[in-house]
Order: sequence, then structure tokens, then C-alpha cells
Amino acid sequence: MNFEIQKLSLARAIQGQLDAMVVLWPSETVPEALGHDPVTRWVATAMEQGDFELKAGAVLTLYCQPGITPRHLVVVCTAQNQAGQIRSAVQTAWSALKSAKVKQLGLHVVGDVTSQGLQLALSCLADASYSYTTTLSKPKTRLLKQVTVSTEKTTLALENAVRHAQALVSGVELAKEWANRPANHATPSHLAHAAKDIAKGKAFKCEVLGPKEVAKLGMGAFMAVAQGSAEPLRFIVMRYNGAAATQAPVVLVGKGITFDTGGISMKPAPEMDEMKYDMGGAASVLGVFKALTYLKPTLNVVGLIPATENMPDGLAVKPGDVVTSMSGQTIEILNTDAEGRLVLCDALTYAERFKPQAVIDIATLTGACVIALGAVRTGLFSSNDALALQLQQAGETSGDTCWRMPLDEDYAEGLKSRFADVANVAGRAAGSVTAAKFLQRFAQNFAWAHLDIAGTAWRSGAAKGATGRPVGLLLQYLTELAGADKPSLVAKSKRPRLNPSTPPVSRVPAKPKARALRKA
Ligand code: BES
Ligand code: MN
Ligand code: ZN
Repeated sequence: MNFEIQKLSLARAIQGQLDAMVVLWPSETVPEALGHDPVTRWVATAMEQGDFELKAGAVLTLYCQPGITPRHLVVVCTAQNQAGQIRSAVQTAWSALKSAKVKQLGLHVVGDVTSQGLQLALSCLADASYSYTTTLSKPKTRLLKQVTVSTEKTTLALENAVRHAQALVSGVELAKEWANRPANHATPSHLAHAAKDIAKGKAFKCEVLGPKEVAKLGMGAFMAVAQGSAEPLRFIVMRYNGAAATQAPVVLVGKGITFDTGGISMKPAPEMDEMKYDMGGAASVLGVFKALTYLKPTLNVVGLIPATENMPDGLAVKPGDVVTSMSGQTIEILNTDAEGRLVLCDALTYAERFKPQAVIDIATLTGACVIALGAVRTGLFSSNDALALQLQQAGETSGDTCWRMPLDEDYAEGLKSRFADVANVAGRAAGSVTAAKFLQRFAQNFAWAHLDIAGTAWRSGAAKGATGRPVGLLLQYLTELAGADKPSLVAKSKRPRLNPSTPPVSRVPAKPKARALRKA
């Protein structure tokens, strides 16, 4: 899907060669304040007749009218600076066009819109029109090819917002694609090929390690998870070099369990199919790299994906087995279903070699996080207040939100083991926190954050499908960090200025700004 932006009045915009046009009408704008084009006249008439109110969510639709080139026209009323309202306005407009054949869509924004609002509108449109096709014999492919944004005033910031939205949507859709694919169409080897594909001819390198190399590295925890599967593991290393080699990279680590049966500690049958989404973290890392190839920000990013299935088998790891991780710490695997932390801990140790300024792991890690935060906010855990603040703000700005959770040392109590340095599970209480406490043991040598996306990576039920989260949050964080925050999402005055020369996040936690650290 392609986005572009044009500077056009509403009168001109409705002359465009488009199949349909959506007009986002601010709830505070009375038609008298605008010109005398057919759409404005029509809104005024509808208001006189009491058929339309300037209230968020109100819709007017029109079909094949003289003087209006697009066959379909939908006016939807919204408060243009409220994320929730933009989201629902775009969804409402798109559902009004659901049965229409729309290849070329116009999106006209009446009045002023922030870059953030415009970017959100475009990504919501992409989300609403997305359809998964790969494993269907007669798929309903998306017709929508082009969205032409028009506004009375175009600014550089809005142009950048469109460019940023384009990159974001391509990343989000790649993440959705891989997460949605069934596990037999998304094996560790498939993921490795996908990574190589994105890297092809682009600004980054991709290296794939197999079982032999991983054994040589001593990744005993990762190997323990993979030993019950007939599919060979893959360890994917992606390197995007947008800045000088001397600049410390940000490392993203994505949990890549392509199917999680639970292993010998097997999961119950209901909804087990959804465990094909257990590589949602890996998919988001692929998505971020795809977006980076478009945006080319000035920074270095490393992507690490430990990919394997978690299967029960004669050779599978058993409860009580003790394995040695790459860090040298021994782990008593009390529950083979707590496998995510086992593959991640070795990837975190591997991350040390990049002397990173920050390491962020992204994982569908715990059912407990779904209980704590539901499908709204991603769980954020970090030992570094400055990094946590940056991620929280990136979440708010992009609308791909997260919520900081605690990491008090007392939560690690239950991980004590009599037979190894650490156990891989504690009790049922605070399960998402104890999982993070386990990971923290392997993230002592750098600024670290962990995003538990178990609740946010996909939707269950009738609308089952991957969301592509947290590609938006990560991309926002990375572009801000690069100083390539020209596609400004909030008004400059309100934006926390992250200086491009901001020194690497130190291990000593910076004093948190009380305003943003809600949990503090
Ligand atoms: N992939 C699951 C987490 C998960 C479960 C995500 C349900 C989304 C929905 C993870 O590997 C897992 O099984 N975690 C266990 C940990 C437990 C054994 C300590 C869990 O959450 O039950
Ligand atoms: Mn599991
Ligand atoms: Zn899992």
C-alpha cells in the first residue's frame, strides 16, 4: 500500500481520480467556516435537517454525486487530536466502505492535524483494510493500493509523517504476516529466510547460525528448548549500520518460539493453536528491520532472534533437568513451558559482544501479563529508568502503549533452586514479574528493558489475528534516538527532546522524571 500527500482544498480534493474519499471532519468546525464546495454544503444541509451532528463518530455517506469524482464519499466527525477518536473514526469510515471496490482512496483532513494524528489515521486505515491471504486457496486480497492524503496546508512535518507511516505500515504488515502464518509455514528456517530476504541488497547484514554454531557458543538453555523438536533451531543475527561503527548499537532480541506446545509440561488443548503466535517478538524485530530499510535513521541496530519450536519428544528436556546457559549460570528447568526465558537468556548473553547502548527484548512471555494488563498495554520491565522513560514516551507518542512493572529483588525469591543457580519458574503469583526477574540475571552488563507482549501481539476470538505490535513503539523509540524524529508525532514544544548526541544510556539509573514514571 502506498501513501502520498497533496496540498489541496476540499473543493479540489473531490475532483481527484479516486474511487472513494474519506473526509475527517473536526467536531469543532462548523460548515459556515469553510468554503462553498458540494461537500460542505451537503454537511450544512444535513445539519439543518437534524441528520448530522458535529459529534465524534457521526457519519454521512454519499454515492455517485454530480461534482464529486470519487464514487463513494464518507464524512466522519472526529476530534483530531485524540488518538482513540481518530482510531474509531477511521474504522467507522472504512466499515462504511467495506463492500465498495476501493483501489484509490483519498483521505482529506479538514483543518489542522498533527503529524501524530495523521500517522495514526494512516496506520489505522492500513490495519482496518489488512487481510491475511498466504494459506488460503481463494483469498480476499486487499484491493486498496493507494491512499492520497490531502490537507489545505501541508508542512514538512506532515510530509514526514506520511513517509514515517509508510515505513511503519510496511514493518507492521511484515510482522503481522509472519505472526499470522501457521507454525508449519513459519518454522525457524522460514524465519531465517525471511530475515535474509529483508536484508537483501539493503543497508543491513544478516547471519544465520544453526545447531552446530549454537552448541559451540555454549547456548545450553536455548538448545534445551530445541532438543525436543524435529525442526532445527536457528539463531538469526541482523545488523543495521546507519551510523559510524564507533556508535554503540541498540540490540533488539525477539522471542522466536514458532510453536509452543509447552513441551513435556504440556499446555491444555483449548486455544493451543494460538501458540503459533509465540514468535510475535521475533516478528516485531523483523518488522522493525523492514521499516529501518525505508527510514534509514542514523543509528546502529542489531536484531537477535533465537528461533525454535517447543515440542514434547523422547529427546525433549524434562522437568528437573539442569542445563548450563551461555553465561555459565546453571538453570533447573522445573517447567518446560517456561521456555521463552530459556531462549532469551542465551540471546541476552550473546548481546554483550556488541557493547550495546541498550538491549530490549520483546517476548510473548507470560499468560500472567495478559491477566495483569490485558490487550491494551504491553508490559514494560526495565532496570534502567532513563531507558524505561524513553520507551514509555515512545509508546504514548506512537499510540502503541506500554506500562511499567516493578522489578523489586524480593520478586526473585521464588526462583531459588537447590540443584542449580536458578530455577526457570517461581510460583503463580506475579508471573510476569518473576519471568522478568529471571531475564534480569542475564542482563547485568548493559541497559536493559523487557517488553512482555503476550496480551498485545495478537487478538483472540472472532477477529483473531496478529496486531504487529510493538513495531510502532520500537520504531518511535529508535527514530527519536537517532534524532531522525522529523516525522514529529507531537507538537515540537511538547516533545521530549532526545538530543541525537544523547550519550548512551548509562547503567546508573538516571533520576526519573516524576511526570512520566506513573508507577514511581
Ligand atoms: N508463550 C507462553 C506465554 C503465553 C501464554 C502467551 C498465553 C500468551 C498467552 C509462555 O511460553 C508460557 O507458556 N508461559 C507460562 C509460564 C509458566 C509456566 C511459569 C505461562 O504463562 O503460563
Ligand atoms: Mn511456554
Ligand atoms: Zn512460549
